Amino acid sequence: MAEPKTNEFMEKIVSLCKRRGFVFQSSEIYGGINGFWDYGPLGAELKRNVKDLWWRSMTRLRDDIAGLEATIIMHPKIWEASGHIATFTDPMVDCKTCKGRFRADQVSEIPCPQRPSKTVSECAGEKTEPRPFNLMFKTHVGPVEGDENVAYLRPETAQAIFAQFKNVLEVSRQKVPFGIAQIGKAFRNEVTPRNFTFRSREFEQMELEFFIKPDEIVEKLNGSVAKLDSSTDLSQARADWGWEVWHKYWVEQRIRWYESIGLPRASLEEYWQKKDELAHYAKATVDILYKFPFGTQELEGIAARGDFDLTQHQKHSGRSMEYFDEEAKSKYIPHVIEPSAGVDRLILALICNAYQEEPVTDEKGNTETRIVLRFHPRVAPVKVGIFPLLKNKPELVQKALQVRDILRPHMNVFYDEAGAIGRRYRRQDEAGTPFGITIDFDTLGEGGPERVDTVTLRDRDSMRQERVSISELLPKLLQQIQ
Ligand code: GAP
Repeated sequence: MAEPKTNEFMEKIVSLCKRRGFVFQSSEIYGGINGFWDYGPLGAELKRNVKDLWWRSMTRLRDDIAGLEATIIMHPKIWEASGHIATFTDPMVDCKTCKGRFRADQVSEIPCPQRPSKTVSECAGEKTEPRPFNLMFKTHVGPVEGDENVAYLRPETAQAIFAQFKNVLEVSRQKVPFGIAQIGKAFRNEVTPRNFTFRSREFEQMELEFFIKPDEIVEKLNGSVAKLDSSTDLSQARADWGWEVWHKYWVEQRIRWYESIGLPRASLEEYWQKKDELAHYAKATVDILYKFPFGTQELEGIAARGDFDLTQHQKHSGRSMEYFDEEAKSKYIPHVIEPSAGVDRLILALICNAYQEEPVTDEKGNTETRIVLRFHPRVAPVKVGIFPLLKNKPELVQKALQVRDILRPHMNVFYDEAGAIGRRYRRQDEAGTPFGITIDFDTLGEGGPERVDTVTLRDRDSMRQERVSISELLPKLLQQIQ
């Protein structure tokens, strides 16, 4: 089947997301609110699976990373120290004719609010000079709204990790190199939210700050710092790794993780930022890009931030952020590598990657289009659909409920007895459910004694069915969803 055009494709994605309950517009009954999205029943499961898989790979499957869950509102000095109050801005222009406000670098792409069919560059209105606009949402803590109690909704989760660096170090008894991982909401008053959930005003991040020894310390301890070249073996961390090798290590780790949840390597790109593109604190940044239908765009940024953040917090808080390295017998502020991923962008990438339309022909020779989400079983919101062949046969229903109860403590299952079996399969194909189990008359023994307590197990992608005994179902499915 021909590839649908970009816009058409995104329209299909948005429509499926609403129809099947992946993503809804926030506050839809009041006309929505731009840049805010809610996750429906399937979206909430998908998101939870993705976050759990990230958390598991970062913390539980490693000895060198500890977790953190910090508040969204923190002391406003955090944002002074981090530089967000001074520099977290977009240059904006105002249109003197339509009174719209736009990002200066996007002025030619944006629809004019008064004449949506026109872009602003066509709107004859004269523009003001660009002025900085801070992207942080402001609020007040306590009953009085004054300058003295201004606070901000965090624009990234990272700063809480730096602010709690010493506490986590102490309780986790980690030694550098080690990391702190956090998943949580972040807020940015984006000037032009766009591309569905891709650029939102409220979103979630999965961030790791991985603290390493400064290169001088590595050199002092090892005599030299390992160089990064094509022969560098990244599979096993080594004592002589400096920031460049650690940075590359994390780029590789993150790409492998994306592959493990179903994004093919060919759908991803590494973009090494050029010197003049780097943020003021970064020594190097690699963006992991995904080939979205609306363009190849950032999914995650992996920055080598040096000792910028801890040094800033030490300066602004007056509290030492130094680490005493027993091996080097000296104190230093650790450097950091930061893989920072957006959950919502990843959910969108997974849905776009999974979506497929294909012609299928039924037993009667009728051809129809099957919409299927080919999610990796690890991330799929529902792992298995359970279907009694007929709902008006109590023996079939009872057996199906038994199967449901065996599987449900271990995975998200969906029990469905309504409608023709083909229709039920299609509904689960569209939800991305990788497996379907049908309980039929053979299960009850009508096909001969060797078929008693067996069911059909249908594979979403090949649509092939095999006969499996009920007792084998759990280990067989667990193997594929973990
Ligand atoms: N601590 C570093 C940091 O926040 P960033 O590149 O600004 O870096 C990291 O953000 C990730 O957060 C991005 O790669 C993206 O996935 C996600 N993200 C950033 N702004 C976003 C937005 N407005 N909507 C959705 N996701 C966003």
